[in-house]
Amino acid sequence: MEVHVARFALLLCITVATSASSQTCAPKKVNDNPWFHVREMLIGCWTSFVTEDNTEVHILNLAAMDEKIFSLNFTNAKPMNLILTSPETLYCLCNINADVNIYLSNSSAITLYGNQHHNNVHKQDFPTQDEELVRWAQQKFGGVTSFTTVRNLSNISSKGIAGTTNTSSHHCVLKNEDASEKHFMKIERTSLASPFTSCSPQQQIPSGEAELHIINIPENASTCNVSLRMDTKEIRVFLRGPQGTTWIILSQHTRFGSNNDILLPALAHRVPPSYTVNSDNAEDVQRKALDVFKVSTFTSYTELRPVGSTIIMALVRNESPAEPSPETVPEPVATDITPQQMPLLMQLYTSHDYVSPLDPNTRVQSDKRIYAEISGHTLGDIILTIKVIGCIVRSKGSCPVVKDLPFIPEACSPNSCPNSTRLSFSLDQLQELTSTTWDLECTVKLCSSEVGVHLKHLKQCKQEEISKHNLC
Ligand SMILES: *[C@@H]1O[C@H](CO)[C@@H](O)[C@H](O)[C@H]1NC(C)=O
Ligand SMILES: *[C@@H]1O[C@H](CO)[C@@H](O)[C@H](O)[C@H]1NC(C)=O
Ligand SMILES: *[C@@H]1O[C@H](CO)[C@@H](O)[C@H](O)[C@H]1NC(C)=O
Ligand SMILES: *[C@@H]1O[C@H](CO)[C@@H](O)[C@H](O)[C@H]1NC(C)=O
Ligand SMILES: *[C@@H]1O[C@H](CO)[C@@H](O)[C@H](O)[C@H]1NC(C)=O
Ligand SMILES: *[C@@H]1O[C@H](CO)[C@@H](O)[C@H](O)[C@H]1NC(C)=O
Ligand SMILES: *[C@@H]1O[C@H](CO)[C@@H](O)[C@H](O)[C@H]1NC(C)=O
Ligand SMILES: *[C@@H]1O[C@H](CO)[C@@H](O)[C@H](O)[C@H]1NC(C)=O
Repeated sequence: MEVHVARFALLLCITVATSASSQTCAPKKVNDNPWFHVREMLIGCWTSFVTEDNTEVHILNLAAMDEKIFSLNFTNAKPMNLILTSPETLYCLCNINADVNIYLSNSSAITLYGNQHHNNVHKQDFPTQDEELVRWAQQKFGGVTSFTTVRNLSNISSKGIAGTTNTSSHHCVLKNEDASEKHFMKIERTSLASPFTSCSPQQQIPSGEAELHIINIPENASTCNVSLRMDTKEIRVFLRGPQGTTWIILSQHTRFGSNNDILLPALAHRVPPSYTVNSDNAEDVQRKALDVFKVSTFTSYTELRPVGSTIIMALVRNESPAEPSPETVPEPVATDITPQQMPLLMQLYTSHDYVSPLDPNTRVQSDKRIYAEISGHTLGDIILTIKVIGCIVRSKGSCPVVKDLPFIPEACSPNSCPNSTRLSFSLDQLQELTSTTWDLECTVKLCSSEVGVHLKHLKQCKQEEISKHNLC
């Protein structure tokens, strides 16, 4: 009887091993990737600027035009000054209304056809270089509402709504952007040769488990900065690219593994590579992802060769994303975070009212109680909680003495000291020791959380060491 049981178990093992090994898929060329929208990110800006008489100022920068002719339909546009610029010889089928004024540089080789109100077309002497053009427009009109670079433009039309962003930025700062966010206009580009292959294994991730998407940029493709937007509750991604690739994860609730650097802009974190993947072969990459996430299948595999050096990939969602309730328990985003330089500052005080900070060059007195405040300086709306785990003092010199430093946490309301914590200690145990110069080192647990739109919480913790030199 027992023999039978053993044999059964062995059989079961073999079955599992076979089915696990079949959970990869062979990617095929596709025209529209069903999993990700991919867009090139080009230089631009978007602000809330309008002139005093409610006129918008838009700059359209046309580059790498495969077809020399494009159409522009701004018949239903809001009043605006529209600056068209391109280094190329282009023909525009332009339809505008009486409140749209088009500005062309007098050196421009753009020819306009169409219904245009001829008095609304102005040839002027202005610079064509991006920053200089923005500066010129700011001087001439008082500001710039948008600057958009489009490659291979075919058709552009206004949607008849205000062209301002609803964020508070008034000043056009050029940076790589996702122009599709500018919902006041519709941009159609000539279709590109499909840059994708993709596939998805037959066995799907069990419902209720987070999706796992694999993205692979082959070794001989150019290095690229890839932003990822995945507005979904929780998702896992495995990202592989040639050395020098940077993945920028814009969404919260994403767990990831990669052989490249990962940037978490919300936390101002750069996470170094967590895995090595020696091969860019589809099956090897898929197996590595299964191994890293300890799963037997995944949701999708996408292989792409980016056109351009900065792209954005947005997860395609047919259904509206599930809104997490505001009470969502904070969850760790990334398991593979290694300590980064989240700037921490330790300031010493002589009394517990924390009014007069000690000058860093003053010697502290070992018979007096010392009060310390540790504060974090972060970017954006990040709120830090800092908890001191332990402190030591270390003597300077060739044979350092290390002593534990007992401390008491000092009360401090979140209102009076945001992003910081307070403690106090006494140095009297150092009096009998010969060294006169000590370093103080505290290990702190640092949690950062960001309250974003939809009240999604992102919480992340790590340990940091902070030190203060020349104590006594
Ligand atoms: C331009 O857009 C308007 C409004 O969307 C539309 O009614 C009109 O037919 C378009 N004109 C051309 C020439 O496509
Ligand atoms: C453009 O206009 C400026 C001043 O109006 C003039 O000096 C310049 O020669 C013009 N350039 C061309 C290419 O016509
Ligand atoms: C422009 O379109 C052509 C094909 O229509 C394509 O070969 C080329 O790569 C495109 N350029 C850019 C920058 O997208
Ligand atoms: C700004 O607009 C975006 C997109 O239209 C929208 O999702 C967001 O909720 C708006 N934000 C505010 C503060 O109105
Ligand atoms: C641009 O508009 C024309 C006319 O409406 C249409 O035939 C063409 O397909 C459009 N181009 C793109 C890239 O959508
Ligand atoms: C990259 O390598 C693949 C397969 O090794 C090959 O088919 C492709 O032509 C190469 N592409 C470039 C741009 O070198
Ligand atoms: C990626 O972005 C960084 C920082 O903006 C930049 O220094 C780097 O050159 C970019 N890499 C590529 C391949 O464009
Ligand atoms: C401290 O936290 C507040 C929120 O309580 C945040 O608005 C602020 O930017 C943070 N300050 C620093 C220096 O990190």
